[in-house]
Amino acid sequence: MKLKVITSNPGKVAEYQNEFGHLGIEMVHCPFPYDEVQTSDLGEVVAKGMEAIRSKGMSDFIIDDTGLFIDSLKGFPGVWSAYVQKTIGNSGILRLMEGKEDRGAEFRTCIGCDIGGETIVVTGVCRGTITTEERGTDGFGYDPIFTHDGRRTFSELPLDEKNAVSHRGNAARLLAEEIKKRRPA
Ligand code: IMP
Repeated sequence: MKLKVITSNPGKVAEYQNEFGHLGIEMVHCPFPYDEVQTSDLGEVVAKGMEAIRSKGMSDFIIDDTGLFIDSLKGFPGVWSAYVQKTIGNSGILRLMEGKEDRGAEFRTCIGCDIGGETIVVTGVCRGTITTEERGTDGFGYDPIFTHDGRRTFSELPLDEKNAVSHRGNAARLLAEEIKKRRPA
């Protein structure tokens, strides 16, 4: 079967294909624009997005939403991570964190999947800390200022190592488990 990955980022399709290939599911990129609601809850953003896409007659798809939640900033930038990355960026986050001893943070990815008329929603988490400077050249977004092991930032990790521990990798593996339960081989 095929699942449409509805995103403007084609890089995500390969990441998902990696986790779903063994289930005999083919991931197809579908750059289908839909209105993203702004709420303070990732799950709600995904649920409303799924509603909007279904109302256009689409089925068998996945969408996702990711946020970086920083403990000492009370969960900021959270659901506003994309906007904050585009505006103040990593240097702005580091400035907001100046003098903060508590560097704890977590990435969360919520995936919504419409499959065979059913809805599956899962959330993957990756805990870590915010560094005091940007490091590394790989990856994207907040990768240069986030470390899961306190040593290397996500920008300093090979992609397969990042995927093995990341929020999106964890969410994709949870979704694969849920699909396997519903479609036993
Ligand atoms: P989106 O939900 O995938 O659009 O991501 C929201 C924001 O979080 C964007 O600014 C992304 O750059 C950032 N982001 C998402 N996933 C990651 C990641 O794995 N590493 C670093 N930043 C990420």
